[in-house]
Amino acid sequence: MEANMPKRKEPGKSLRIKVISMGNAEVGKSCIIKRYCEKRFVSKYLATIGIDYGVTKVQVKEREVKVNIFDMAGHPFFYEVRNEFYKDTQGVILVYDVGQKDSFDALDAWLAEMKQELGPHGNMENIIFVVCANKIDCTKHRCVDESEGRLWAESKGFLYFETSAQTGEGINEMFQTFYVSIVDLCENGGKRPITNSSASFTKEQADTIRRIRNSKDSWDMLGVKPGASRDEVNKAYRKLAVLLHPDKCVAPGSEDAFKAVVNARTALLKNIK
Ligand code: GTP
Ligand code: MG
Repeated sequence: MEANMPKRKEPGKSLRIKVISMGNAEVGKSCIIKRYCEKRFVSKYLATIGIDYGVTKVQVKEREVKVNIFDMAGHPFFYEVRNEFYKDTQGVILVYDVGQKDSFDALDAWLAEMKQELGPHGNMENIIFVVCANKIDCTKHRCVDESEGRLWAESKGFLYFETSAQTGEGINEMFQTFYVSIVDLCENGGKRPITNSSASFTKEQADTIRRIRNSKDSWDMLGVKPGASRDEVNKAYRKLAVLLHPDKCVAPGSEDAFKAVVNARTALLKNIK
């Protein structure tokens, strides 16, 4: 039996699944779960100590699904406690705080920790991941925008939701879609259905959008050396325009990246004889 296979998978019968939460301390993992299961929000921070475990029953696609939720502590101090809970998981709720860039940057490290704990025979491909860009109610402090988060998630074939455990925004939709995807996975013999796993844009497009977002000036954005000729600038521009044109590229953030490239080219050509 595959490591990720749920306990029962007959259509119409009840199903038992395991989901875990992952993400830095204080991003709101416990509050998201509490908002969904108990319909309430606690503003005082009560750090999870090691692991919190809960069971909930939900109705998904006319099946009764018994969900075992393992809510992990995000603090590095609890690594030893949480590391053994990664195995036999069908779904992961991966959370970051849209006002804490560090928590977004840490998502790769969370995936790496899980991969390491699953070992060489663990298969991350057949797990449903949902990324929660949480605390969207704190608009004043937001520093990771939707397209950046969505690009990261979708380029990995993960679901993406903007959530607020405080207001409840996005929480029910997130869980509903997450559970439906897990049931689809179980009904597909524990394998992620093809439609969910492939992004509708290329890695080159995603990497280029990220590079443009992080570029330090117009030269850097076009990927040419400072002092490059008109021809070099135009050539670099054309290549990027073909890659990112909104008619051709559906990657999150492509429209802004395309506009930035157009502006960079205009600014550079103004100053080149
Ligand atoms: P650890 O258990 O330490 O890993 O943290 P956690 O990710 O479980 O965070 P928790 O859910 O305990 O929330 C941390 C703090 O953020 C608490 O003070 C919450 O009230 C607050 N919080 C959580 N979600 C939201 C949200 O959507 N909006 C706002 N404004 N605050 C939130
Ligand atoms: Mg917690």
